Amino acid sequence: MKKTIFNILFIIVLSALFLQPVSAQLKTNAQKADSVLNLMTLDEKIGQINQYNDDWTATGPVTLDPDKVTQVQKGEIGSLLNCVGTERTRHWQLIAMQSRLKIPLLFGQDVVHGYKTTFPVPLAESCSWDMEAIELSARIAATEASAGGIHWTFAPMVDIARDPRWGRVMEGAGEDPYLASKIAYARVKGFQGEKPGEINSVMACAKHFAAYGAAIGGRDYNSVDMSDRLLWETYLPPFKAAVDAGVATFMNSFNDINGVPSTGNKYLQRDILKGKWGFRGFVVSDWGSVGEMINHGNVKNEYEAALCAITAGCDMDMESRCYKNNLAQLVKDVKVPVALIDDAVKRILRKKFELGLFDDPFKYCNPKREQKELNNPEHPIIARDIARKSIVLLKNQDQLLPLSKNIKTIAFIGPLVKAVKQNKGFWDVELPGLDSNFIVSQWEGLKNKVGNRTRLLYAKGCEIEGENKDGFADAVDIAKQADIVILSIGERRDMTGEAKSRSDIGIPGVQEELLKVLLTTGKSVVVLINAGRPLVFNYTADHAQAVLYTWWLGSEAGNAIADVLFGDYNPSAKLSITFPLSVGQIPIYYSHFNTGRPAVSDSNRFYNSSYTDISIWPKFEFGYGLSYTTFRYSNLQLSKRKMKSDDRVEVSVTITNTGHYDGEEIVQLYLRDLVGSIARPVEELKDFRKIKLKAGESQQVKFLIDKEKLSFYNQQLQWVAEPGEFDVMIGASSRDIRLKDRFELVE
Ligand code: BGC
Repeated sequence: MKKTIFNILFIIVLSALFLQPVSAQLKTNAQKADSVLNLMTLDEKIGQINQYNDDWTATGPVTLDPDKVTQVQKGEIGSLLNCVGTERTRHWQLIAMQSRLKIPLLFGQDVVHGYKTTFPVPLAESCSWDMEAIELSARIAATEASAGGIHWTFAPMVDIARDPRWGRVMEGAGEDPYLASKIAYARVKGFQGEKPGEINSVMACAKHFAAYGAAIGGRDYNSVDMSDRLLWETYLPPFKAAVDAGVATFMNSFNDINGVPSTGNKYLQRDILKGKWGFRGFVVSDWGSVGEMINHGNVKNEYEAALCAITAGCDMDMESRCYKNNLAQLVKDVKVPVALIDDAVKRILRKKFELGLFDDPFKYCNPKREQKELNNPEHPIIARDIARKSIVLLKNQDQLLPLSKNIKTIAFIGPLVKAVKQNKGFWDVELPGLDSNFIVSQWEGLKNKVGNRTRLLYAKGCEIEGENKDGFADAVDIAKQADIVILSIGERRDMTGEAKSRSDIGIPGVQEELLKVLLTTGKSVVVLINAGRPLVFNYTADHAQAVLYTWWLGSEAGNAIADVLFGDYNPSAKLSITFPLSVGQIPIYYSHFNTGRPAVSDSNRFYNSSYTDISIWPKFEFGYGLSYTTFRYSNLQLSKRKMKSDDRVEVSVTITNTGHYDGEEIVQLYLRDLVGSIARPVEELKDFRKIKLKAGESQQVKFLIDKEKLSFYNQQLQWVAEPGEFDVMIGASSRDIRLKDRFELVE
């Protein structure tokens, strides 16, 4: 292997060892980064903070660069994205080793919900409320990605999202800051493992900083208009959780907040992130977002864009080329002190040291390991389990589900039954040369489950989109021959994701009409809804006998769905986001304020904040999800009625499985601060437990309430708990509150 810069430095240090006191030896990665920095020219420094797309696939507007190779050879590029596989990454790393200082490249990739083995889309997975499972899926994604040469994933996306029109709602963990923060923490831990530089870990990236999920009208890339308090209370907590978990990098966002683009927002990046939160990693821009500040109208040209972004604390420029083309001039014009560039470079070099790339630039380029991990037989087993944990049972009239394994004939109908790649959802990783035969379609999953015992009939019925009903007759025909109908409908996988905002979030095409005609046969219909976002599907919800929200479940989708249909797994997921009754209700979320005319009923309109044409209630609320069994909540006890601020209240409740199946329940604790100097939400999730109970079994669940759980940002943006009364609500969902009590916080 070629000598790397670190090897050279190491020799220099060794030879100096006998002359130096121990304290002066190169020890920390920060010191090592400093030493490299001292050797770098300004152009090389600017190169380090410059990231380009590799040429074979793109996740944004493409700028073609015929001389990328020369630029890497000259040390003018610090990182590449969309470059996957040991072969491709080795190829680029070899070129980087031809550069003067041989500083290794960093390979970044959107490994959002799996690399080869694909897990449920993040919104689906968040409905599991299962932190171990969520951490594990990130762990496996990291294991496979790092084996494929990747050092850095642009995940997790931790944007709170309350508008299902926004296509990127699928990438996050839903609407609630408490749940989303727990998930952000788990995902970062999963990607990054125990410590930086482990062979099966990648650096995580908390994105998009900040408030990208609040784009006006749910339109991607749109502006955000937001109070400081909403930002701090709702949108920032998951980012803070990512910092607490030790996240290595942040990505800023496309949107402006109150007129200031995040990419050029000093308050966010320098004051909050690197200042108040003490973040020592680096911030990458979003794709081209440095240059897009010109379109925002905040800067005149690329020169000003580069000045604005680097000053605000954006360390690496993804794809806009503003840094590369302007920073040298900005330094010359004494507009940008070299110290600013040095700081960005050091942050990036430190990470390269932590990853061990200076010791071995090809550390993650081992084709044998790649083969082994990409074919690790344990990964699909885990993916199947996490997929089943993400399926939400929304309706189960007359306990139609689980299906008996003795059913004679099943008609499996719909445009998604035999789909293969669709199951991966958006933001899957395109691996060169990989076919799709490892993805289990829903048809295959059902066949695997029933074997020869049951006759399986298939008809497509219709396409996902379009008006053509020619396939209806065949579908009705096989439905008539069957004992039960399973209908798989929904979105195409690329209908959610980046740049996939929709104003109509109904089930596309004639799919619900297909359900209507199938119901005329008198057969019971189980509907599987495949989607990356909450859809509006009132006809289905009201008329189908059973509805499973299967989202996009990843490479084991078919097996996971079959497990749930036949009761080999009892559904346990609960919605992490409100499902509206109508697009007109959006934005709709459970933790709203009470208002002066509280929204408690659909009648008495003058007395209720309400609509004249639709209900105020969502179709399915945050925290909702059924099981094949039932749970009784009883015996709510509070350890005290008055709590001092340095004290804690213990809340206990007994949960009993009152049905006939073993099952899991997500017990939710909500609080309401009855009187506050700032109006407080009608309820806020402050804790939860996911417990497993055998049929007939009971368990006591305990929660601790401390001052932290009672605190909020007051008018001065101070984090305070104000004395007064608090309602404690224990629920099976945010609307299904089973038990309630009250205590007081005293001075
Ligand atoms: C997206 C990011 C993504 C980046 C690189 C951008 O368009 O907003 O989330 O990480 O592209 O693919």
